[in-house]
Amino acid sequence: MTDEAKKRFDRIIGPLASDPAVAGMARFVQHGRVTTLEHCLRVARLSWAIDQKLGLHSDPTALIRSALLHDFYLYDWHDKAAHPRWHGFHHARAAAMNARAHFRVTTREMDVIRSHMWPLNLTCPPRSREGWIVCLADKCCSLKETLFIR
Ligand SMILES: [Fe+2]
Ligand SMILES: [Fe+2]
Repeated sequence: MTDEAKKRFDRIIGPLASDPAVAGMARFVQHGRVTTLEHCLRVARLSWAIDQKLGLHSDPTALIRSALLHDFYLYDWHDKAAHPRWHGFHHARAAAMNARAHFRVTTREMDVIRSHMWPLNLTCPPRSREGWIVCLADKCCSLKETLFIR
């Protein structure tokens, strides 16, 4: 990746990543010993790398912001008392609602967050290039975190 692409990533992710609510994702464990914040940062970095490597020309702001917020559901999913319903099916919607409550998110960013669990949420497929990239990057990072970082 070029230095310019790296700087662009930092410029977009910086203000959002330093927000206290986003930084608060460090309180929760995602997979193994990886926190939800670390997981979301990895997904954002990989999403940007996929876009840059393949020259996909997605909207950088929408891609990076929605990747960072894709698991912004703000609870411990291992704690069954912390969330009433099936985490896998419902957390994407919870993350999108939280993103809208905390930040000014676009319709496309909301869509990317809501659809990142496809095909588990069969009726909610990604509807944009950014959505497909984040959906793929999330699966790659989740698999790696689950298999190798225990
Ligand atoms: Fe997720
Ligand atoms: Fe995720």
